[in-house]
Parts: sequence; C-alpha cells; structure tokens
Amino acid sequence: MTEEDHPVPQHIAIIMDGNGRWAKQRHQPRFMGHRAGVKSVENIVQCCVKHGIEVLSLFAFSSENWRRPSKEVSLLMELFALALKQQVKRLHKNNIRLRIIGDIRKFSASLQQQITQAQQLTQNNTGLTINVAANYGGRWDITQAVQQLAAKVKSGEIVPEEITEDSIAEGLSTASLPEPDLFIRTGGEQRVSNFLLWQMAYTEFYFTDTLWPDFDDKELDRAITSFCQRERRFGKTSEQIKGEHDA
Ligand code: IPE
Ligand code: IPE
Ligand code: MG
Repeated sequence: MTEEDHPVPQHIAIIMDGNGRWAKQRHQPRFMGHRAGVKSVENIVQCCVKHGIEVLSLFAFSSENWRRPSKEVSLLMELFALALKQQVKRLHKNNIRLRIIGDIRKFSASLQQQITQAQQLTQNNTGLTINVAANYGGRWDITQAVQQLAAKVKSGEIVPEEITEDSIAEGLSTASLPEPDLFIRTGGEQRVSNFLLWQMAYTEFYFTDTLWPDFDDKELDRAITSFCQRERRFGKTSEQIKGEHDA
C-alpha cells in the first residue's frame, strides 16, 4: 500500500472527553482534569503540524455543557480565556490559523473580544487550521445555515429550489474547509454528542478508552494508522474502489 492509496487525513475532528474522570482517578477536582486537558491540546496540535494535517477541529464546550454545575462552567470559561491569552502568539508564530466555531454571543464581552482578536491575528496564516468548537452544537450549526438561506428566500435573492446541499454546507461554520476524514473520541463513550453532524456524513470514526489528558503522540499515531487501513467507499463497491486505483 502506498501513501497515495492511503493519505493521512486532511481534517481530524476530536471530542476531547474524559477530563473529569482523569481528575477523579487522582482524587482531584474536575477542574484539574480540564487543566491537564489543555496541555494535551498543546501536544496534539504540535503532532498534527508534524503530520501535515490541514484542519484540526476540537470540541471544547458543547451547547449542552451549560447544563453542568455553574461553578464548573465558569471555571471552564476562565480556562478558555487563559488558554487563548497564553497560546495565541505561539500559534501565530507557528503559522496556525485559529477559528472559533459556535455561538459565541453567549460568552462574556471580554471573551468575545479575545476570540475576535485571535481570529483576526491568525486569519491569513497558511499552516494548520484549528477550529475550536465552543458553545457549539451540530444542530445549531445546521439551523443557523438554514436561517441564512430562509432570509435569502424571503428577500427574493433565491427561490427555495436553489437551496442545495452545497448551499447549506456553505452556510455552516466550517464553510470552505474539507469535511472531517477522521473523527476521534477519547474517554470511552461511543457517541457524537451533537458535534459536526452535517459534516461527518462520511467521516471514519475512531473511539478509544484513553482519557483526553492521557491522549499523546502514540495514541494519535494509532488513530491515524487505523484510518489508513480503512477503505472509504462513499457508497461504491470495494471492487470499484480498487479498480479506480489501478486505472
Ligand atoms: C470533556 O471532559 C471536557 C468538556 C466537556 C468540557 P469531561 O468534563 O466531559 O470529562 P468526563 O466525561 O466527566 O470524564
Ligand atoms: C462532549 O463531551 C463535549 C466536549 C468534549 C466538549 P460531553 O462529556 O459533554 O458529552 P456527553 O454529555 O457525555 O455526551
Ligand atoms: Mg464527558
């Protein structure tokens, strides 16, 4: 098998789960798990750069995570702001483009401002693109894309028949980026938890029991190796796929 047959994934999407359990195992408060989780993010970003990955999407805070105890929610917000403050310059130096996907209007004014500045600073970088999903929900994403199209219909700019899969995709928060090739969820749960619902129609799924703070280079290599061994058929037969490679 050649590298060409099984290229590395262009886009990896990760649900970084298991921080709370990691802390519990150590008889520490959940927050310590989230802090350790940020360290893990730093490491995995470097690994993705090394592998030449183009896009990395990280689920940091779901639209459902507001249901957690308010103390945990506010600590997570503080940690997010701190991580942005500490990391943005380094990301920029490494030619990384940072995007925050999700409904950021629910965040404090100062966090929103930090997000806007980080995106502006890094917007023209041409290396790895990182999507940090914050107050993100796959259903929210589809809904807001459909609302944009409905407004265009209302104003007469388009007719309903002009709504296509492509025009919906263009309204999503990941517009113009390739869809995820590989989805990784750490922490043992095997569910999507309202992550990139539309975008993951043909993504390969990889689940590991490893808790996010313990997810390291070797674990990422294992996931990528698993991805490389799969045959992506997109509805075709295996014979067709093999024939295409021979042709
Ligand atoms: C994922 O870890 C991080 C966030 C959802 C913010 P969890 O906090 O869900 O960790 P567990 O699942 O309780 O171990
Ligand atoms: C999903 O993890 C969201 C993030 C990792 C940010 P959760 O731990 O919140 O997911 P559920 O609630 O177990 O499905
Ligand atoms: Mg969890």
